[in-house]
Order: sequence, then structure tokens, then C-alpha cells
Amino acid sequence: MFSTSSLTAATAALSLIASSSALYSASSNANVAVYWGQGANQLRLSTFCDESSIDVIPIGFLDLFPAQGNGFPVENFGNACWGGSVYYGPGSDHAEDGLFTQCPTVQDDIPYCQSIGKKIILSLGGASSGYQLSGVTAGIDFADFLWGAYGPLTPEWTAAGGIRPLDRGSTNTSSLTIDIDGFDFDIEHASTDLSAGYIACINRLRANFASNPAKTYLITGAPQCPLPEPNMGAMIQAAQFDILWVQFYNNPSCSARSWANANPNYATLGHEVSTVTLNYNEWKQQISSGASAGAKIYIGLEAQIAGCTPATYGDYLNATEANNLIDAYKGDSSFGGIMIWEATTALNDACNCGQAYFDIIKASLEGTTPPAQCTTAVTSSTVSSTSSTSSSSSSSSTSSSVPTTTSHICASIEHFQFLDQCV
Ligand SMILES: *[C@@H]1O[C@H](CO)[C@@H](O)[C@H](O)[C@H]1NC(C)=O
Ligand SMILES: *[C@@H]1O[C@H](CO)[C@@H](O)[C@H](O)[C@H]1NC(C)=O
Repeated sequence: MFSTSSLTAATAALSLIASSSALYSASSNANVAVYWGQGANQLRLSTFCDESSIDVIPIGFLDLFPAQGNGFPVENFGNACWGGSVYYGPGSDHAEDGLFTQCPTVQDDIPYCQSIGKKIILSLGGASSGYQLSGVTAGIDFADFLWGAYGPLTPEWTAAGGIRPLDRGSTNTSSLTIDIDGFDFDIEHASTDLSAGYIACINRLRANFASNPAKTYLITGAPQCPLPEPNMGAMIQAAQFDILWVQFYNNPSCSARSWANANPNYATLGHEVSTVTLNYNEWKQQISSGASAGAKIYIGLEAQIAGCTPATYGDYLNATEANNLIDAYKGDSSFGGIMIWEATTALNDACNCGQAYFDIIKASLEGTTPPAQCTTAVTSSTVSSTSSTSSSSSSSSTSSSVPTTTSHICASIEHFQFLDQCV
């Protein structure tokens, strides 16, 4: 049982918490990175930057590279790019031209997000099958393009006729310019050259970073969890990554889901009974030598897709399971936080009474145990004082939407979009 007044108090407490801002720190073990760009009917980038639980946003993807895009890469940020107008590529096959000349909200939002301290990383690759970067020369050229087009604006680049796809703001005519915080490699297909192109690209990017020592740029990677990693293993060994947010999903042999299944009593026992199901320690060992020694490891988790019962979780970890996993690994010296695929799904999480998944995860990273049941989440002061929630909270609810006889309460918390699944 609960009362409307306790709900009101909890909501008020949550809005107070919302004003505390969490920002990326290289030395923190509580960073939350959330991919954006591929969500269905996704809200604009700035909406997620306004979330106090989110520190880093890899935006994806550049899903074709110059060899496939008539000399330019191709941006695919879902519904955020439009117009049909594309740059005239430097090559001869203009049927391949595909780099949009306008991504209006992104053009405004990258500078906005950075102004409030969020890191925006441009992600290359993804699950689509068409991209490939082969050969040292192509790798170096692509790095120089990425730096010139998305790094700090330089007179040299402009004088040479270089394009700046995401400058100029939403009108495409302002003097706004972007300076991306780094580049992410989510390479999910085997290279044709033992990764020589990717290695050259990353090394060249780092050399370019050094030309602007005033700012720290990042190279991040999203390898899949199986080891040896067939597509990214060589580049991780040979080129320096700062962060690896390993995808601990899609592969049952090493997934977070397998860990949760193998450790159902973690909270009671206080320790794992099986570590073989999540190969975090093997990843740590893997990068203890080589160019990426010292890289931070983030555990990559998948937001809820299918349903809110254990039978339908798939690779999703519920609040309790995720909290257990975080508790087990957050003390490790290499652990940097959690990566979530992806923003829209995480925002619309239907399994936590309307709390976004990134809020749940951030609370766990900050050492506060999330609720075992939704009822507790909404009514208990413990949760109210520990949950981090959106600073852009504007949704409201009415007490009439609150079921009075069920264990799930779906009210008062923002992000709530799936009422039917909570009652
Ligand atoms: C946006 O601005 C760039 C640079 O001036 C230009 O090349 C491009 O055509 C513009 N896009 C649109 C749709 O006007
Ligand atoms: C999370 O999943 C576990 C295992 O299936 C289950 O026992 C627990 O009740 C779930 N917790 C929540 C909050 O749904």
C-alpha cells in the first residue's frame, strides 16, 4: 500500500537529485556511456545529454567508409539526418555519394552537449555489413579526413576545400563549429588486411590529437566479448585505445546474461560462484600488454527489448541483476563504468516503473542499491535518495494512472511510456 502523498514526496526527492550532474572522468569507475543514433523514432541528442545519468554518448554510425562512399564516409544517425542532399564525393562513382549535408539537430546538439560537459564520440562501423578500411594509406587518409571534418576547425583544412558536415548549427548557416571528443571503433566485420588500415587510422588519429594538446581526445572501441576477438583483436593489440566498452551481449559464451543466470544468489552470497560466464578478467588479461595496456574496460549491456519477465529478458539484465554485476566488478582497477546499447530503448525501459535504464545503472555505479521491486522504487525514501534521474524531467502523471492493487506502480516517474506493462 502506498499513498499519493508518499508518491509526491518521492517525486520531489527525485527532482532534487536530478540537479546533481555526473560528468565523465577518466579515473572514475562510475561512467555511463550510452549509444545514440540508431533508436526507433529517437528523441534528439540534446535530450539525452540533459540526462544527468549519462556521461558519454557515442553517436553512430559512420557506417560506410571512403572506399564505399565515393571518397567520403556515410553518416547514419537514423531520423536525425535528412534532406536527401548529399555531398558531391571526390571519386567518380556519384551513385555512391551518401554523406548528408544536413543533420540539423545534431549540428546544434553536439556543441550544446559539450557545453554542459558531456563527451560526444563519433562511432565508426556498427552491425551493418558494407564498411571496410583496407591498407595503410587508406587508414591514414581516413584519419586525416575524420580529424579535418569533425575535429577542431583549422584554416588549413578549410583552405584545402575540406568539408565540415556537422558545423553551422541547425540552420546550416550559423558560425557554430564542432570539435568532436573522440572516435569509436565498433568494427564487426573481419578486415581484409590483418587490420593494417584500422591500425594506421587509429595511430594517425592519435598523432592528429597531439596537434591540439589543449584538449584530451579519446579512442574508444566496442569489441564483442568472445576472445580472441576476430575483428578487433589485432587493432586493440597494435593501436592504443583509451576505453573498451566490450559488448557483453549477443554471445552467450561470455555474456552478462550468462553471468546473471550463473549467479542468481550473488546478493546473498556476496561473491560470484562462477566467473567463467563473463570473461571480463580474460579481457583484462588480454590488454595487460600491447598498445592498449591501461585502457579502461566498461561492461557493455543491452537495454530491454523484448519484455519484463525473466523468460523474455534476453540479454537484458534487470535492476537487481545489473546491480549484482556492477557490485562484482566495480572495484576492479580497470573498470571504468557501463556502456548501454542504446539510448532510446534505455529511455523507454518498461521494466522499472518508468525509470530509464541509465538512471538505474548510474545509481548502482554510485553504490546505491536499486529497488528489488517497482513498488519500493516509487515509495521508499531509500530509493528516492539514491536514484539519479533526468534533469530534463517534464513529464507529469496523475494519481488516476496509479494502480492500487498491483505490485508495480507506474506513476510520477518520467520516461514512463509503457503503462500497460507495469500494471
Ligand atoms: C549545408 O552547408 C554546407 C556548407 O555550406 C553546404 O555544402 C550544404 O549544401 C548545405 N546543405 C543544405 C541542405 O543546404
Ligand atoms: C530480476 O530477475 C531475477 C532473476 O530472474 C528475479 O528473481 C528478480 O525478481 C528480478 N528482479 C526484478 C526487480 O524484477
